[in-house]
Amino acid sequence: MGTPFISLLEPTRLDGYDNTKPHTAQPAHIPRVFLDAMEVREAVFVEEQKVPLAFEYDADDARSCHWVVYASVNRTTEPEERDPQTGEVTKPRKSETRSVPIGTMRIVPFPHPPHPPSGARYVGNVLQEDDGKEDDSSSHDNATAARPRARTLTSVDTERQASALPFGADAPTTYHDGKEPYVKLGRLAVIPMFRGHHIAGQLWRAAKAWLEEHPTFFDPSVTELGMDQLKAGGAGDIPKWNGLICCHSQESAVKLYEKWGFKVDEGMGKWYEEGIPHVGMFQRLNIKHMNPQV
Ligand SMILES: CC(C)(COP(=O)(O)OP(=O)(O)OC[C@H]1O[C@@H](n2cnc3c(N)ncnc32)[C@H](O)[C@@H]1OP(=O)(O)O)[C@@H](O)C(=O)NCCC(=O)NCCS
Repeated sequence: MGTPFISLLEPTRLDGYDNTKPHTAQPAHIPRVFLDAMEVREAVFVEEQKVPLAFEYDADDARSCHWVVYASVNRTTEPEERDPQTGEVTKPRKSETRSVPIGTMRIVPFPHPPHPPSGARYVGNVLQEDDGKEDDSSSHDNATAARPRARTLTSVDTERQASALPFGADAPTTYHDGKEPYVKLGRLAVIPMFRGHHIAGQLWRAAKAWLEEHPTFFDPSVTELGMDQLKAGGAGDIPKWNGLICCHSQESAVKLYEKWGFKVDEGMGKWYEEGIPHVGMFQRLNIKHMNPQV
């Protein structure tokens, strides 16, 4: 493997992306870097972890920043040929070096849906709830009794849905007061044969350095949106990122994120995405607002 290099794709329109098809069957206008990110995500989440393809791409992809790490991989295109009598090479081996995507990560800007309730189950990014009660109808069967139901909206959900930009309050957790804007690290994946070489670490360092250099990138612009749409009464109400990062970690990856400085948010409990147990983790980057946006 040659020295890996990393590409960044800033938020981009992905209209026309068909979530029922793999990255190889998408319209020509979808940016190459995003298709490369999806190549890795399909290999890791869909093929390895068995998440349905249709749930892998989601509405956050267009508004996120994506980092993709590539490696130069040499492969033989035509094998060497030798004279069977003399053993001399009659045709040298032919090879080509290609850059292949081997890892990816995304940062989703605020706002976010409410924190997942502890014990909840998400199927296709939709929150389900199994109340544990047996179905009491006469046509009762096990399949019906076990089927999760859509969760009832809480007052927090209703308040957030009613706002133009849902910056409304969320349930407070151990590291989040329920109000502060935070960005979310996600879709971290490295192709199996490249694991254990600090590829994920390189992605994290690239994303962290970029966030530290662009702390106001995701802050909404009052000039573009206006105070009314931001539901801001004064400058102090305008959402402004102050370095807080969340990640929804698969339980098996907690130790990795802890090495990067994240801490498990006990107040968020545990929930399941496509059957995989997840916990919430937070850390705060030490950012300086060099160019505050008004
Ligand atoms: C998790 C994943 C991205 C790690 O990729 P990677 O390139 O092998 O990770 P790195 O080599 O950068 O690991 C960095 C450090 O974390 C450790 N680490 C990596 N994965 C770990 C894990 N699952 N549990 C505990 N420690 C882990 C490494 O040993 C390394 O420690 P070190 O710095 O002391 O040597 C990769 O295993 C993967 O794609 N897994 C499947 C998808 C997944 O689970 N994604 C996370 C979703 S929340």
